[in-house]
Amino acid sequence: MCGIVGYIGQQPAAPIILAGLQKLEYRGYDSAGICTIDGGFADVRRSKGKLQNLVQLLEDSPLQGSVAIGHTRWATHGKPTEVNAHPHQAGPVVLVHNGIIENYLGLKMELRDQKHNFKSETDTEVIAHLIEHKMIGGSGFVDAVRTSLQELEGAYAVCLVSETEPGMMIAAKHGSPLVIGLGDQEFFVASDIPPILNHTREMVFLEDDQMVVFKDGFAHFSTLAGGPLTITPRHIDWSPLMAEKGGYRHFMLKEIFEQPRAVQDTLAGRLLEDEWDVCLDNIGLSDAKLAQVRRVCIVACGTSWHSGLVGKFLLEEHCRLPVEVDIASEFRYRNPVVGPETLLIAISQSGETADTLAAVREAKLRGALAIAVCNVIDSSIARETDGVVYTHAGPEIGVASTKAFVTQLVALYLFMLRLGRAGGSITPERMMPHFTSLLHLPALMEQALLLDNAVEAIARHYQHAGDFLFLGRGINYPIALEGALKLKEISYIHAEGYPAGEMKHGPIALIDENLPVVVIALRDRHYEKVVSNMEEVIARGGRVIAFCTEGDDEVRNRAETVLYLPECSEWIAPVLLSIPMQLLAYHVSVLKGNDVDQPRNLAKSVTVE
Ligand code: F6R
Repeated sequence: MCGIVGYIGQQPAAPIILAGLQKLEYRGYDSAGICTIDGGFADVRRSKGKLQNLVQLLEDSPLQGSVAIGHTRWATHGKPTEVNAHPHQAGPVVLVHNGIIENYLGLKMELRDQKHNFKSETDTEVIAHLIEHKMIGGSGFVDAVRTSLQELEGAYAVCLVSETEPGMMIAAKHGSPLVIGLGDQEFFVASDIPPILNHTREMVFLEDDQMVVFKDGFAHFSTLAGGPLTITPRHIDWSPLMAEKGGYRHFMLKEIFEQPRAVQDTLAGRLLEDEWDVCLDNIGLSDAKLAQVRRVCIVACGTSWHSGLVGKFLLEEHCRLPVEVDIASEFRYRNPVVGPETLLIAISQSGETADTLAAVREAKLRGALAIAVCNVIDSSIARETDGVVYTHAGPEIGVASTKAFVTQLVALYLFMLRLGRAGGSITPERMMPHFTSLLHLPALMEQALLLDNAVEAIARHYQHAGDFLFLGRGINYPIALEGALKLKEISYIHAEGYPAGEMKHGPIALIDENLPVVVIALRDRHYEKVVSNMEEVIARGGRVIAFCTEGDDEVRNRAETVLYLPECSEWIAPVLLSIPMQLLAYHVSVLKGNDVDQPRNLAKSVTVE
C-alpha cells in the first residue's frame, strides 16, 4: 500500500510530485506529504486526509527546489494523522516508504537506547533514525542507506534525500514495487507507472535488493550490497490519456465503458485461425510441460478470486482437469497439497498483492509450475512465475476493479483453450465456436453497455435498501459474488452473493418485502432450476430483480424488475453479466454521494498481509 514519488532534475520538483501523487492516490489516501531540498535544507509538509489538503497547504506556502520526494499513505502502523504521515525525518535524513518493516520494534528500542527520539508511531521513522545513527557514526549518506537497508526485515520501497547531499536522491526496494523513469538528466521514482508516463517512457523496474543513486544528472544502479548492476530500461507505450478520466465523471465509469476495447486488446493477436490455436507469447511453458499438468490450483484475492472461480468452470469443462480455487491468504497458511504435477495460476490485476505473491512462492517451493494472469507488466507476480498471460486492460485507477476483472475472465478463457490444445482435450474442430464467441464478445459488450440508463433506474428504485442478495448458479455464481462485492465496496450496502440452489439451506430466512434479490436467470443449462429458486424468493415476498435473456417473458411476468441481456454462449455470459452488475454498484454509489473511485478504507494494491 501507499504510493511514493521522487524527482531530481532541473525543473521545480513540487508540482511534479503532487501530480504524481494524484495518480497514486488509488494506493492509499488517508494522508499525504512532500519534502523538497532547497538551498541545502529539507522542507517537509504533511497533511491528514486526501491529497487535496496537501495541495492547499502548498498553495498557501509554496515549496521551491528541484529535488523532492512525496507520499500518499494507507495506514498500517499508526493512525492516519499528520504526525504519522510521510515523509519522516531524522536529522538530515528524510524518506518516504511503502511496505512494512517487521523488525522495527527491536530496532526502535535499540535506537531509543542511543538517545534517538521518535515522533511518530510508524515503522518508517525507524529507517530514518537508523540511517542518521550510522551517519553520526561517520558513514556517508549512501553507505549509511546501504547498511541500514540490509538490517531491515519485511518489505520496503524507499526514496530518500539528505541535507548533507542536497544534489542527491536514493531509491531502493525489497518486496514492494518501484519504477524508475529515465529522463534527460532528470529522473523520476514512483510506485507505479502512471506518475512517470507524462515525463518519459523509458523505465526501469527495480528488482529486490537493488538501489539507485541519482547525482549530477546520472543514475548509478547497484545491488544493495554495492555490487555492479546492468540494467535494461523498458519502453512503456501506455498513453498518458489512458491514465486519465477521458471525460467521464469517474475513473470507474470510464473503465466500465472501455471494457469492449480492453477485451479487444486482451484478444489481439492471440487467436490463430489458421492453426485453431491460441498464441500466448509470455506463457513460458512448452506444450510438453502443459500436457504433464494433472491438476490446477488457482490462487487470488477479492475480485481476482471471483475470476478464478469462473476459471474453474472453464478449465474443468474443457480441459477435464481437477481445479481448486483458493483465497491466497488461506492457501499460503494451510500446508496445501501441490507438487510438480500441479499448475498454479495466480490471478492479480496489480501483480503485487502480498498474499498472492506469497502463495506463488509457496507453490514454487513445493515444485509446482506457476503462471500468472496479470495486468501490470513486469510486476512482482509476473516476474516470479514461470509464465504470464497479460490481460492488457491498461491502467486501472478506480479502486473497485472492473475492466481488470473482465479481461481476467477473457485471459482465462484463452489460457483454457491453449491448455486444452496442448493437452489434447480440445481438438482443432472444437475451437471454432470458441473463436466465434470471443470475436463477437466486444460487440455484445457494447450492447450490454446500452443498459446503463435502465440500470440507473433500477439503482434509483432500490438505493435505500439496507441489504441485497445476489443469486446465480454454475459459471454465473461467481458473478453473483462479484455483484455483491462491487455493491459492498462502493455503496457501503451490505450484500451477499449465494449459489441459488443453496438458498433453502439457510439464507431464505432473510427474505422479506424489504430485501432486493438480484437473480441471474439466463437461458442456460440452469435456467429451470434458477426460475424455481426465484419462485421461492417471490413466494416469501422478496423483490426480485432478474438479469435474464432478451425476450424471456416467463421471467418478466414473475420478477418485480427485469433487465435483458443479449443472447450469448454460456462461457462468455459472465463477462456480459459483469457489466450491469458493475453499473448497478456504480449508480447506487453515485446516488448515495459516495467517493466512487476511492471508497473508504480500501486501497487498490494490497501489498501487505
Ligand atoms: C475489488 C478489488 C479487490 C482486488 C484484490 C486483489 O474491486 O479490486 O478485491 O481484486 O485486492 O487485487 P489484485 O488483483 O491486484 O491482486
